Amino acid sequence: MDLDAMRELAHKAMVRRCTHPDRERGFVYYHGQRVAEIALQLRELIFPGEESWDEVITAAGWFHDVGKGIEPHWEYGALLVREMLKDHCSPQELEQIAEIVGSHTLRKQREYPPYVQLVQDADILDHFGTLDIWLDFWHCACRGKGLEDALEFYGDEYLQKVESVASLLNFPESVEILQEKMLFAREFAERFRREAAGELILKRKKAKD
Ligand SMILES: [Fe+2]
Ligand SMILES: [Fe+2]
Repeated sequence: MDLDAMRELAHKAMVRRCTHPDRERGFVYYHGQRVAEIALQLRELIFPGEESWDEVITAAGWFHDVGKGIEPHWEYGALLVREMLKDHCSPQELEQIAEIVGSHTLRKQREYPPYVQLVQDADILDHFGTLDIWLDFWHCACRGKGLEDALEFYGDEYLQKVESVASLLNFPESVEILQEKMLFAREFAERFRREAAGELILKRKKAKD
């Protein structure tokens, strides 16, 4: 598989695109790059001996949202990658990449092979932790919303959202990572709430070791 050529294609096709009115230009490119990295790390963690999936996972991570903007974007994306990537991998690899792209949002709707499940989980995980702070701030800035609105995002609804998203994850390891991300974001939001009210935080507790 010619991953260098594919990365170049992904960059060319997505880095200048505006796919959401309240996210940065090229979000879909950078999100794809992160999803591939996350999926590879999950693969290493959960299926340590299965390096043979890595190229397919990488390419599918990069391109999973290439169809964004034309819905259903997973179906359109699967059509697009069959065309865009056909000269850069084998027919079997292309089939697997299209399978991942075409089902990345259809979580738990049927039995999927692990290489599909890994990208499905990575796609969810990239929206939490520091990244949900980033998305929340962008959203508020683009809509002229203030601190209060940015903080509101981390109220009870946030916990409910995390819970419902956790039920869509395929692997307990992914759920654990999501919980850690959620705790970080809540901790950040708590400090943000205090500083937004003008509180000076004089001393931070030192972590043990
Ligand atoms: Fe998507
Ligand atoms: Fe995505």
